[in-house]
Amino acid sequence: MEKTLLILILTLGCCTAAPSDSYNVTGSVDEGGQCLCTVILPDNSFPMHRMEFLEITSSNLSISVQQEITKIQSYRSSLAVYLERLSNLTLRVEKVELGILSYTELDFALLKLEIKEMESLAVQLRTSLNGSNIIAETLFMEIQNISVMVNQLESYDKNNVLAVRREITSLRKRLQDCEKNQTVLSPPPVTYGTCDHGRLINVTKPFVVQLNWRGFSYKYGGWGKDSFVETSNKDQFWVAPLNTDARLMELVRFHTAYDDLLLYKSPSDKTLSKYNSYSRTYDYSNCGQGSGMTLYNNSLYYNCYNSQQMCRMNLDTNEVQHQALPDAVYNNRFSYAAVAYQDMDFAADEEGLWVLYSTEQNAGNIMIGKLNVTSFTIERTWVTAQYKPGVTNAFMVCGVLYATRPVNTRMEEIFYMYDTNTGKEGKLSIMMDKMMETVQSLQYNPNDHKLYMYNDGYLVTYDITFLPSSEPQ
Ligand SMILES: *[C@@H]1O[C@H](CO)[C@@H](O)[C@H](O)[C@H]1NC(C)=O
Ligand SMILES: *[C@@H]1O[C@H](CO)[C@@H](O)[C@H](O)[C@H]1NC(C)=O
Ligand SMILES: *[C@@H]1O[C@H](CO)[C@@H](O)[C@H](O)[C@H]1NC(C)=O
Ligand SMILES: *[C@@H]1O[C@H](CO)[C@@H](O)[C@H](O)[C@H]1NC(C)=O
Ligand SMILES: *[C@@H]1O[C@H](CO)[C@@H](O)[C@H](O)[C@H]1NC(C)=O
Ligand SMILES: *[C@@H]1O[C@H](CO)[C@@H](O)[C@H](O)[C@H]1NC(C)=O
Ligand SMILES: *[C@@H]1O[C@H](CO)[C@@H](O)[C@H](O)[C@H]1NC(C)=O
Ligand SMILES: *[C@@H]1O[C@H](CO)[C@@H](O)[C@H](O)[C@H]1NC(C)=O
Ligand SMILES: *[C@@H]1O[C@H](CO)[C@@H](O)[C@H](O)[C@H]1NC(C)=O
Repeated sequence: MEKTLLILILTLGCCTAAPSDSYNVTGSVDEGGQCLCTVILPDNSFPMHRMEFLEITSSNLSISVQQEITKIQSYRSSLAVYLERLSNLTLRVEKVELGILSYTELDFALLKLEIKEMESLAVQLRTSLNGSNIIAETLFMEIQNISVMVNQLESYDKNNVLAVRREITSLRKRLQDCEKNQTVLSPPPVTYGTCDHGRLINVTKPFVVQLNWRGFSYKYGGWGKDSFVETSNKDQFWVAPLNTDARLMELVRFHTAYDDLLLYKSPSDKTLSKYNSYSRTYDYSNCGQGSGMTLYNNSLYYNCYNSQQMCRMNLDTNEVQHQALPDAVYNNRFSYAAVAYQDMDFAADEEGLWVLYSTEQNAGNIMIGKLNVTSFTIERTWVTAQYKPGVTNAFMVCGVLYATRPVNTRMEEIFYMYDTNTGKEGKLSIMMDKMMETVQSLQYNPNDHKLYMYNDGYLVTYDITFLPSSEPQ
């Protein structure tokens, strides 16, 4: 009833009243007798759409304020985290500076990575705060300071221990990658110990096996594996660091397995000097001189100490034989460049045992002598045109002498060859990366086609690649 009444009142109010000036009202009656009114309010009486715009703007504003607040809160909490991490880092760097941690214990790579990550976050933070936040500015500066500090610390590492360790890590990884790949790609079959292949064409990157067992100060010496093709113990490793005088070989260590070598485990040591308790002096006559030694058929061959003689020690009996090397100069007359006392350099390959030396008659050029291991005498010699002190080291492969020279502190080049089979010499250029500056000794082993380098105390190997015999040489 109420509703009907209202319509009635309205009907009366609008349809009967004449349109007035103050209200813009139009009215009409539909076919059902109902009256419809349209009231149009003038624009200036209430700015409805402005109100709406204001509402939206205000809501937009409050949203962005909310966002800003959230941002600042999150910056604040991340600032706190970074500050904590920064003070942790500072602590660690200080420890290094004070020498509490040794350089080798500290993982610079990780530290640098962390700092780099923080640096990029700090830059982000700084940009978004647009230079208006002092904490962020300080943080940024501190991070930059710490980064500089770590770089400086690293540059103090004169011995390159860290660089070597990093290289080792990357080499290990590459080795693993290679091993993974090798299971997929079957490598061409290699027959070790024969000369059924073409010429030497390349050597791989160095693989650092370890630091020598006597330590970092023992920069001079040699190492390798029994290089006799028919050896009864293919895993007989020898490591012979000279004494720190860079001349005397007094101690030699042997391992019968690669794993033992790696872990410095189960060594068998030979002392070549003898102590005379009556005269209280040492007898060095069975000791070696220089880093030209090699192990061949379970006997160690070397230049006898302070002598023109070749020495041979049978590892089973410990008996040491002496034999003169005719015309050979000795006692550091014509050693290799950069290493002292290597007047005689023994080398083994597929064809047997050789000794590289020089004589006054040949003006210090390299002589190649082929040894008869039965009689322990020189069977035949070849004279090369290469001055021995002009090369850093040399090795033999299938009767061919290869000599190296330095390119710089990180690179060595195999640059000279002399083929005893043809009597011809030649130039070549095969680059070899090296870890440390000086090549103290370089040995080829025909049983695994590897070069064994004693590189300022580090034991390093390289794999040699040859052309297949079917390809043109
Ligand atoms: C009333 O509305 C009509 C149409 O919208 C308009 O033409 C007219 O000028 C208005 N009259 C007044 C008094 O506002
Ligand atoms: C409010 O925000 C919306 C969405 O971000 C945008 O489309 C609109 O133009 C803003 N309005 C005003 C008045 O700022
Ligand atoms: C900082 O170092 C302390 C103790 O060494 C450790 O509890 C904390 O988690 C470290 N903080 C960060 C952010 O690494
Ligand atoms: C940052 O600040 C500069 C001047 O201090 C100003 O010109 C610039 O527009 C600001 N940038 C932002 C994204 O606020
Ligand atoms: C950064 O290093 C400079 C100079 O070494 C020093 O003056 C400055 O106070 C350091 N800044 C911070 C934030 O540690
Ligand atoms: C292993 O093989 C893949 C695909 O053939 C190649 O991209 C990658 O360089 C190889 N890695 C090594 C270490 O040879
Ligand atoms: C030689 O070996 C090095 C290292 O593995 C490699 O980078 C280089 O490409 C090789 N060169 C040739 C001619 O095969
Ligand atoms: C290798 O050594 C063994 C045992 O001492 C000996 O019987 C053999 O004749 C040697 N071979 C050569 C080629 O010297
Ligand atoms: C090596 O020496 C032994 C003993 O003197 C001799 O019988 C043998 O023929 C020599 N070998 C060569 C290849 O000259």
